[in-house]
Amino acid sequence: MKVSVIIAAAGKGERAGFQKNKLLTDYGGEYVISRTLAAFTKSGLIDELIVAYSPNDKDELLPLLGEEVIAVQGGSTRTKSVMRALEQVTGDVVLIHDGARPFLSCELIKRCIDAAAEHGGAIAAIPCRDTVCAERNGKVDYYVGKSGLYSVQTPQAFQTKLIKLAYSMAGDRTFNDDGEVYKEYIGEPYVVQGETRNIKLTYKEDFAAPFSPEVRTGVGFDCHRLVADRKLILGGVEIPFEKGLLGHSDADVLTHAVMDAILSAAALRDIGYHFPDTDPRFKGANSIELLTRVLALIGEQGYSVSSVSATILAQKPKLAGYIPQITQSLANALCIPLKNVGIGATTTEGLGFVGREEGICAHATAVIIAKH
Ligand code: CTP
Ligand code: MG
Repeated sequence: MKVSVIIAAAGKGERAGFQKNKLLTDYGGEYVISRTLAAFTKSGLIDELIVAYSPNDKDELLPLLGEEVIAVQGGSTRTKSVMRALEQVTGDVVLIHDGARPFLSCELIKRCIDAAAEHGGAIAAIPCRDTVCAERNGKVDYYVGKSGLYSVQTPQAFQTKLIKLAYSMAGDRTFNDDGEVYKEYIGEPYVVQGETRNIKLTYKEDFAAPFSPEVRTGVGFDCHRLVADRKLILGGVEIPFEKGLLGHSDADVLTHAVMDAILSAAALRDIGYHFPDTDPRFKGANSIELLTRVLALIGEQGYSVSSVSATILAQKPKLAGYIPQITQSLANALCIPLKNVGIGATTTEGLGFVGREEGICAHATAVIIAKH
């Protein structure tokens, strides 16, 4: 299934009052639009990126987009911008997202894609925290309420043929968002659980208080015996060697240390606790799949992994040549950028059981951040 993303970036940002498009302002050392783009590219879930831009921003914005990004001139309203961008979409599913929402997680992107693939259309939304009222002439006109009401966010995800059909019928009408266009012409979009942190940078004050998440660190360690007739798997990568590591699972010592570091950072015990080696379900288990389960465990507690660092202790084989592949494999599994995964390897100069080639160890640290 091919997945496309439209980033609506053709607004003026008038409410933020920067005298320029708010997406071209600095947020914590990076352009807002660059952060939003990175959230999608680093997810590894996207095949095509389309950005709707305003002609006013052409010179400043276009150089910020990667070569792969398709730039489309937007329109005078968000509805028109998206309508134009949709013409370029070739994916089976398309996510439509506000350029002004840079803080969404990889998990939210996944939820939206899955919901659109299954149901046709879905929007991210969170239950209203505050009671909503209508104001008129400085006074409360009427109360709308809070119960059963949701604040609508993006991404909003759709099967491409359905949302294209919806927009083809929209003519000159202006809609609040894409879910409303879909609802008008196709049917009710599903509601996917959004994220509190996925705010739309709208007013100047939203830029003044950079998002500062709770940060926690954890350490992990693992060790397995080297034996004949076993595969040697490190970070999900099979390394050619005459021996391999012995264990109940695939004995991927590096991934085990990384999992322990992540669990420890969230104070969620260790892998032995969650995946006991007495449990036949984990016999021969693929450790990268277990890592996905660890991410879900910390996700339930409101955390996601920010970075990982690890050292492999092995006398043989020489691992230097495999480090890039191992790093990429772990970055993919962790759903984080390559630059946030630091893997090293060392011998022990022939000392100890590692030096005698009886086993391989790995130490790891992980940094996790609160998602909200
Ligand atoms: N947008 C767009 N084309 C427009 C208007 C808005 O692509 N003609 C995009 C914005 O760039 C933004 C998103 O739609 O990423 C959500 O809109 P909003 O937050 O309202 O941004 P602006 O319209 O830029 O801000 P303002 O309404 O304060 O001028
Ligand atoms: Mg606007």
